[in-house]
Parts: sequence; structure tokens; C-alpha cells
Amino acid sequence: MSASEIREFFNRAAADEEHYPSTIDPRIYHVKLIVDHIGDVGGGRIADIGSGKGRFARIVKERNPPASVIAVDLAEAMLAHVPAGIHRIAASMTALPIATASCDAAYATESLEHAVDVPAAVAELARIVKRGGRIAIIDKNAAAWGRLETPVWERWFDRKELEKLLGRHCRRVRSQLISYWEDVEPDGLFLAWLAEK
Ligand SMILES: C[S@@+](CC[C@H](N)C(=O)[O-])C[C@H]1O[C@@H](n2cnc3c(N)ncnc32)[C@H](O)[C@@H]1O
Repeated sequence: MSASEIREFFNRAAADEEHYPSTIDPRIYHVKLIVDHIGDVGGGRIADIGSGKGRFARIVKERNPPASVIAVDLAEAMLAHVPAGIHRIAASMTALPIATASCDAAYATESLEHAVDVPAAVAELARIVKRGGRIAIIDKNAAAWGRLETPVWERWFDRKELEKLLGRHCRRVRSQLISYWEDVEPDGLFLAWLAEK
């Protein structure tokens, strides 16, 4: 599958608000993990890579009003929904038009699974973050593959495999199974990788 075919898929998918929502309940644990891991960056920069409609970026910006939040996505139709006050960049996560070490934090939620060249996307995520900055990835667990319908190019991740990839660029990396609600036992579908460069 070429990048332009994947872009077209997501440009069309942007009309599907049910499966590609523009908002998320801030109480969902995925959101809490991202916000807590980023911490307070003051007037720094935070990049949401593969942002979709910016449902995470919206909350990250609310929690970090002085920060500059950048939403990067391959599909312009997704970016069209990103709220005002958040910068939008149409680009691939495997070649980010963002300066090296210019961000205090970067995260990718359910987007790395579409990257095709995953090592390149992880390297880019790490490249744009400053030393000491935070990186978070939330994505699906390879052990649960088959549980959902997926496009042909999509892939899910082994916990240790992605820890290892992040470890090429980061000083500290940890991962955990997560569920939507902090007090509900994870069912094995979602994993979070939290790193410090
Ligand atoms: C399942 S959606 C998740 C969106 C968002 N992170 C969220 O959690 O709502 C996947 C997003 O990744 C984007 N995407 C796919 N391949 C990409 C790539 N190579 N570079 C940047 N974005 C990409 C798609 O356009 C889509 O908006």
C-alpha cells in the first residue's frame, strides 16, 4: 500500500465520526496517561503525531495553555477538524518537517500502527524531542491481533519489540497494558509505551 493510498483512505475516513471521533472523554485513562507523562512544559512545544482530528491534542492544549501544540497527520481532511489554537501540519510521521530536538514532548495514539515503516517513525518521534523530553505511544497489542477489523497495512506491536525500538533513542522506556478506565483490569488490547529521551 502506498502512502498516497493510505492518505486517501484516511481522507475518506474523516467523514466517519463514529470510528474516527473528534473528541474523547478526558477521564479515559489513555488521555490521563498522555497528559501526566508530558507533565508541565510551560511555554514549550508538544507534537501529536498522527493526530487525526486532534481529540488528544485538544485536551493536551487545555491542560498546557501556554504551550505550542502541533498536530501532524497525513490526511488533510482529518486535520480540518483540529481545534483552533493548535498548529496543523500535513506530513508523514516517517519524515516530520519539525526541527531536531525542538519539542518538549511528542506522542502518537493509535497512529504508529499505520506507519508502514515503524522504525523510521519511531526514530522521527525521538528526533524531534529534546534530551530529557517525554515520548508516549499508545497502540494495540500484537498478542490481541485479529480482535478488530483492520486495513491491510495496519500492524500491532509486541511490547518488547517497541520498547527495544524506543530504547535506541531514549534513556528510559517502560510499557504497560492499559484499559480505558484506570480501575478496570486491562483486557490485553491496548499497550502504552512511556519514554524519556
Ligand atoms: C486511528 S487514527 C488515530 C488518530 C488520533 N491519534 C486519535 O487517537 O484520535 C490514525 C491516524 O493516523 C494518520 N496516519 C496514518 N498514517 C500516517 C502517517 N504515515 N503519517 C502521519 N499520520 C498518519 C491517519 O491519517 C489517521 O488520522
